[in-house]
Amino acid sequence: MNFQNKVVLVTGAAQGIGAAVVDKLCQYGAKVAALDSNETVLYRFIDSLRSQTVLPFVVDISDSRQVICVVEQIEKTLGPIDYLVSVAGILRMGDLLALSDEDWQATFSVNTTGAFNITRTVARYMKERCSGSMVVVSSNAASVPRMQMGAYAASKAAVTMLAKCLALELAAFNIRCNIVSPGSTDTAMQRALWTDASGPEKVIAGSLDHHRLGIPLQKIASPDTIADAVIFLLSEQASHITMHDLRVDGGATLGCQ
Ligand SMILES: NC(=O)c1ccc[n+]([C@@H]2O[C@H](COP(=O)([O-])OP(=O)(O)OC[C@H]3O[C@@H](n4cnc5c(N)ncnc54)[C@H](O)[C@@H]3O)[C@@H](O)[C@H]2O)c1
Repeated sequence: MNFQNKVVLVTGAAQGIGAAVVDKLCQYGAKVAALDSNETVLYRFIDSLRSQTVLPFVVDISDSRQVICVVEQIEKTLGPIDYLVSVAGILRMGDLLALSDEDWQATFSVNTTGAFNITRTVARYMKERCSGSMVVVSSNAASVPRMQMGAYAASKAAVTMLAKCLALELAAFNIRCNIVSPGSTDTAMQRALWTDASGPEKVIAGSLDHHRLGIPLQKIASPDTIADAVIFLLSEQASHITMHDLRVDGGATLGCQ
């Protein structure tokens, strides 16, 4: 992987999958703009990296004005953005019939509109240069219904199609756009779903009550595993791959599209 001196923007960079992506990109020599809305966790993570090549930016990606300003600032300070990884996301659980307006809107504001804001803004700069590659992190819930995850699954289905349409619009400008759809991955978002110490075993086993299959590969993914898939699709090693949705879920959704 050659990311030496390349400028990469990563959202949701403070923890979990986004942090794993930032960590690997630093090791590959990239200059990383790490965006997150959680200032405390972001600064703590960036300090722990002890890297000269990563800069933190506190931004709420659901606010298009903030996104436009920060992208302009990154282009001026770090240089032209070569790569974008859109990771930031939230999960609000609940049956659709009981879901509040606020839960529905917050879910779409971050998972769908947030991804739209950042991909659209960065793509405008990439298009000028006829160069660039982006990866949007969606979810395996985008294509398989989940109990209590109606808003989340719908927001992820929307962002998956957003990324594919964007890939189509940008292909003629030498810009690739791909999707990584993780399954259960060991992060704060996943742990919030575990009610006791047997949380991981229950996820791996699946649950007929919840119409949910287990994980054939018998393990929960680590954020590093998802980051590897992201970095492959981002890189020149995937130079002829675009509009692709790479499922990284240990077989949990049986490859259903
Ligand atoms: N963990 C899983 O099991 C799993 C499975 C499938 C998909 N995903 C997806 O992977 C992505 C990363 O998830 P994770 O598990 O690392 O979650 P996480 O909760 O550990 O990290 C998400 C990060 O996004 C940031 N964020 C949230 N809202 C934001 C906003 N408005 N602006 C900027 N930053 C914001 C948070 O502060 C946090 O640092 C998400 O899009 C999630 O939907 C996760």
